[in-house]
Amino acid sequence: MALADYIFKKPVIDTERLTIRPMCVGDVPALKEWLPDPSVYTYWGKEPSKSEKNPEMLFANEQKPTKSFHLGIALKDGDKVVGDIYVYLIENDRMASIAIRLAPSCQKKGYGTEALSAMTAFCFENTELQRLWTEVDVRNIPSQRMLEKCGYTREGLIRQGKMVNAWCDYYIYGKLATD
Ligand SMILES: CC(C)(COP(=O)(O)OP(=O)(O)OC[C@H]1O[C@@H](n2cnc3c(N)ncnc32)[C@H](O)[C@@H]1OP(=O)(O)O)[C@@H](O)C(=O)NCCC(=O)NCCS
Repeated sequence: MALADYIFKKPVIDTERLTIRPMCVGDVPALKEWLPDPSVYTYWGKEPSKSEKNPEMLFANEQKPTKSFHLGIALKDGDKVVGDIYVYLIENDRMASIAIRLAPSCQKKGYGTEALSAMTAFCFENTELQRLWTEVDVRNIPSQRMLEKCGYTREGLIRQGKMVNAWCDYYIYGKLATD
């Protein structure tokens, strides 16, 4: 399989407790419970957008087909979306950035580690991607712990750089298919 094979039909990835899957308008009530929550954005690098504050806007227009992934993280028990995960900024089908967030009520239960490791394995096993990377605010300890548990390497420190929209010290974490 290749990234191009997923342009029109996104994958569904099962883990022990989670289903990582495309989202639909039926997920709006679940998204409303946490997506606008300011605490989710403390180290996200940017303020919530209009559609993150009003999740129904996410489904107002038909999404442009793209090689990127933006998938919901649903609890297997009840299929409620409690988080989302992105694989984006794809360069030459070889390298991409990855980002994940969870509802505050579902943090610290190992779901982040479970979802990130499954999404990472999916990318390396089912697409041409050879490198996944992300930027993490140095104060974001849960994210660093999660990345390290998933086999990502801390590759460097950017001092007072721009992580998405926020000026801060941040680490680059990366994982190669060969790691
Ligand atoms: C980053 C995030 C996805 C981690 O998900 P999670 O499900 O809470 O993480 P896990 O439960 O898998 O825990 C991973 C590790 O972090 C630790 N951890 C989790 N929350 C923590 C906290 N608040 N303080 C200290 N350590 C924490 C866990 O104990 C675990 O380490 P351990 O196994 O050594 O004990 C989640 O905190 C989140 O959504 N944060 C807001 C959005 C965000 O910042 N995303 C990352 C942007 S780079």
